[in-house]
Amino acid sequence: MSEIPRVHPETIEEVSEKADIIDVISEYVVLRKRGKDYVGLCPFHEEKTPSFTVSPNKKLYHCFGCNAGGNIFNFLKEINKQSFSEVVLNLAQKYQVPIKTVNPEKKQELQRQITLKEKLYEILALAANFYQYTLFQNQGKIALDYLKSERKLTETTIQQWQFGYAPPGWETLYRYLIEQKRYSIELVELAGLIKKRKSGNGHYDFFRNRLIIPIQDSVGRIIGFGSRSLGEELPKYLNSPENTLFNKSKILFAIHRAHKSITQEDEAIIVEGYFDAITLHDAGIHNVVASLGTALTQDQIKLLLRYTESKKITLNFDADNAGIQATHKAIKEIEPLIYSGQVQLKIINLPDGKDADEFFKSNPDAMETYQDLMENAPLWIDWQIDLLREKNLNQGDEFKLATQKIVQLLNKIQDREILPYYIAKSAEILSNGNSQYFKNVQESLYRQIRNKKPIQLLKKTKYDEKIITLNQERELLAKSESLILRIYIHSPENRKYIIELLEEKDLIFTIPYHRILWQKIIQLEQLEIINSNQLLLYLQNFGINLPEENNKINHLFNLNEYTEVDILCAHQLITKAIASMEIVKLEKYQRYCLEKWQSLNPETVDYYSQEFENTNKKIQELQKQRRDFIN
Ligand code: UTP
Ligand code: MN
Repeated sequence: MSEIPRVHPETIEEVSEKADIIDVISEYVVLRKRGKDYVGLCPFHEEKTPSFTVSPNKKLYHCFGCNAGGNIFNFLKEINKQSFSEVVLNLAQKYQVPIKTVNPEKKQELQRQITLKEKLYEILALAANFYQYTLFQNQGKIALDYLKSERKLTETTIQQWQFGYAPPGWETLYRYLIEQKRYSIELVELAGLIKKRKSGNGHYDFFRNRLIIPIQDSVGRIIGFGSRSLGEELPKYLNSPENTLFNKSKILFAIHRAHKSITQEDEAIIVEGYFDAITLHDAGIHNVVASLGTALTQDQIKLLLRYTESKKITLNFDADNAGIQATHKAIKEIEPLIYSGQVQLKIINLPDGKDADEFFKSNPDAMETYQDLMENAPLWIDWQIDLLREKNLNQGDEFKLATQKIVQLLNKIQDREILPYYIAKSAEILSNGNSQYFKNVQESLYRQIRNKKPIQLLKKTKYDEKIITLNQERELLAKSESLILRIYIHSPENRKYIIELLEEKDLIFTIPYHRILWQKIIQLEQLEIINSNQLLLYLQNFGINLPEENNKINHLFNLNEYTEVDILCAHQLITKAIASMEIVKLEKYQRYCLEKWQSLNPETVDYYSQEFENTNKKIQELQKQRRDFIN
């Protein structure tokens, strides 16, 4: 890609004025209003409780968890890994700010880059028209018949969704766009409409003899196509290849038609297939979108959540056995959003494992049943627990397996107030209605999850206050280590104590030049040619042959009026310095535990939450010891 010319400061200023930081960040983070600000889960580090704050007034964001922060430009640079100019240009385009460049002669190049996307939209729109036109020609009859008789769609619906037909020829669209409309081959290829031949020269149409379903972004621009084969050819469904506009993991089919209704209903429905969405819209249920045959991504959920205040999403996927597996798979990536309460996900499964399209086409009371199912849809967690009802829990191994699954599940629930409800519900299922047994199971479940402290109780803010920043940590280490080294060198009577403590606590010197000095000391002592009072002399004279390191450790070889006092109360200072070194070490370990804990791996979550708490206690004890020392 050619170099992007520098944007004029006036443009930057205007963009910064016009761009809405909440609007922009919401595309990446689910934000909730809290007071004047908005909060959400930080996109720059793993977390389960929101510490990412956006201030619309100050036009700044800040994460109290990882200290990421800045303005809208920093945010986009960081999250999209783009250069400053790219970020400014994209925003300028989005907020319709005219672009001035520092060197006007480069303006054309700039314009070209900006218009690339526009050109792609243009080509895709033309292609859609071409396909649509073809559908109503003689050669499109096969597809039109399919829509009308197999799919039972009316002509109005067919028009509304801009269905089309890609003719069977190898170069039909190619000729239309390139020879007739004079678009460049590169551009049409970039749009995903033609493909280079593997051998020989030339290109051929990407979609051939297929029903075409245009896919639009949330403002209604066509960004790509879905297509379905009309006979037995595979694949049954084929989508546009990924490009700058068409990114499957960020797209939801029908979002353009659904978002108003999602806002009105304050709820969104996600179905699996294009035709499921179309059928539901046709039936008058408009808050429906479809995923594109892939697992749901956080990006897709966040896109939806922009339109619903109460964050309600209902999933209506196939419900046969494969469907249940698929549902678990589809949800995997968005689970953190669910368990942290950012989205309220419900599941509905239609009778006989039908998809919405089949269900509505085969059932005269479909609407009523569907609404009923919607109203009573279980939450994701309830749905998972309910699956147990189908298991034969009278068998020991099935029972054990089910209990383990339940414990894993219960452990993920972060809202501790609701936990007793789920424990009771699970116990009821596991005990199979036997009231005597119910109590036992309930108690056993409590025991098995008791050890886990809720993440919310973690008092995140306190934890944040307590974590000393990495810089402070390093400073503290440098200070403690050099104190210990100085005492070691100048006070032979304390050496044994130092060695013992370091060994007992399993501590090492971590600052590189301290480590080098320490190695030298050990070496010299092992030579046994020096008596205890000669260490300093040897160190000074046969010093360490690392010039840059020397000036960092030289000060340790001399005492001044202050450090002389240190030697006098050496014992106490050693204890405190060792405590500091230990704290830094424990804090590092604690961060590791938190990370592990938050990854919510069911096998280790208990262990790490416990470790986190234990480490916390140890740190607090140590902090008592060294309190005076830090100041
Ligand atoms: P299915 O293949 O399960 O759909 O794919 P289906 O309901 O049986 O298909 P019909 O009813 O016979 O037409 C589920 C949906 O996933 C999407 C399509 O929207 C499809 O309807 N999909 C699937 C894609 O977008 N791309 C793919 O490659 C596969
Ligand atoms: Mn179907």
